[in-house]
Amino acid sequence: MSKHILIVDDESAILEVFRTLFSDDGYRMTFAETGHEAIQVLRSDRADLVITDKNLPDLNGLEILKVAKEVWPLTEVIIVTGYASLDTVLAAMELDAYDYMLKPLHNIFDIKNKVRQALDKQEMTLENQRLLKHLREHALALERALEERKRVEAELIQSEKLAGIGTLASGIAHEVSSPLFGILGLAEAILDEDDLVLVRQYAGEIVEYSKQIRDIVQEMSAYSRTARNEGVVPVELKRVCEDAVRLVLRSKKLEQFDIRTVIEDGLLLMARPNEIQQMLVNLVKNAVESFESAPLERARVVTVRAWLEHPHIVIRVSDSGQGIPSHQVEQVFDPFFTTKDVGKGTGLGLHIVYRIVVKNRGTISVDSVEGTGTTFTMRFPAQDA
Ligand SMILES: Nc1ncnc2c1ncn2[C@@H]1O[C@H](COP(=O)(O)OP(=O)(O)O)[C@@H](O)[C@H]1O
Ligand SMILES: [Mg+2]
Repeated sequence: MSKHILIVDDESAILEVFRTLFSDDGYRMTFAETGHEAIQVLRSDRADLVITDKNLPDLNGLEILKVAKEVWPLTEVIIVTGYASLDTVLAAMELDAYDYMLKPLHNIFDIKNKVRQALDKQEMTLENQRLLKHLREHALALERALEERKRVEAELIQSEKLAGIGTLASGIAHEVSSPLFGILGLAEAILDEDDLVLVRQYAGEIVEYSKQIRDIVQEMSAYSRTARNEGVVPVELKRVCEDAVRLVLRSKKLEQFDIRTVIEDGLLLMARPNEIQQMLVNLVKNAVESFESAPLERARVVTVRAWLEHPHIVIRVSDSGQGIPSHQVEQVFDPFFTTKDVGKGTGLGLHIVYRIVVKNRGTISVDSVEGTGTTFTMRFPAQDA
């Protein structure tokens, strides 16, 4: 679109000079002989550049400058003044005029140059604005995508956890049923018992069994709670590792293996406790499940270690299980990669572990020898003391 230039001067001869000067330059030109006329033009038809005489019969050129900037701040204004009083020029520049020209106008090149430069400056400002707008839109879109990703991720983590509970549940049911049978037997005995001393003793045992069940239920509900609204706090690794191990042990009570935890005292990781627990549960569960097809005579040991290796906290889960075939090692963190039967594995466990590690600015690596065992090593930035 061609640039619109408004020229304001009460001498028609001057207007004529401008008209001739720019006749071949492709500008759209409007001419006004009075200040009021100029203002009317400005209000109805935005100008890119205003060249105005400082002294008009009805108005001061500076008034036109003000109106022009008010209508559209990017309008450039050049003031034409008859006597080069410094005051006028300064006042005009203060009001953000682009430049001034001195009457009589005889340096045609100078005039043409100033006009071109003023319009170039405006074009550059416009381009900057366009870029900024573009950038802002992009930033906004990015922000939205990030939000969406966070939401989906939280949902994924939660649903995997619930699926995980499904596979833990059969073992847990077994775990709950033995104290439950104990309670039942004792309660039946109480019904037929007249000896108050014995009745008391049975009741005491019932209380103990009930506490066991309460603990199991509490553990399960703490684990299934969503981590989304949980805050980042110093997580005591010793406790969380032991909780995770206990949870897996409960669900695999019938199987034979040995879990060892070697956690340095006082190790704290800034994170969401629930996420760290889930990370460990997933790893320990996989470790324990790796014995399923390993020969029985092999030692079945899982070791969870954590220690400070400045500036990192290292957590390592290793097992003496079947190992991962080398052609599959690359895939284990992929979502839905599983070698387990339908209903046993979701293939999301390690993917979730990976996401949790990355989210906490950590790294994870896997070392595995088929038929010998597997080690997962995670490194997190240790908190500055
Ligand atoms: N400790 C391990 N020992 C051997 N293989 C493992 C171990 N951990 C993971 N894997 C392999 O990686 C796959 C993906 O694990 P995961 O993401 O937890 O899904 P799932 O346990 O549901 O299969 C497993 O199916 C198994 O083949
Ligand atoms: Mg798993």
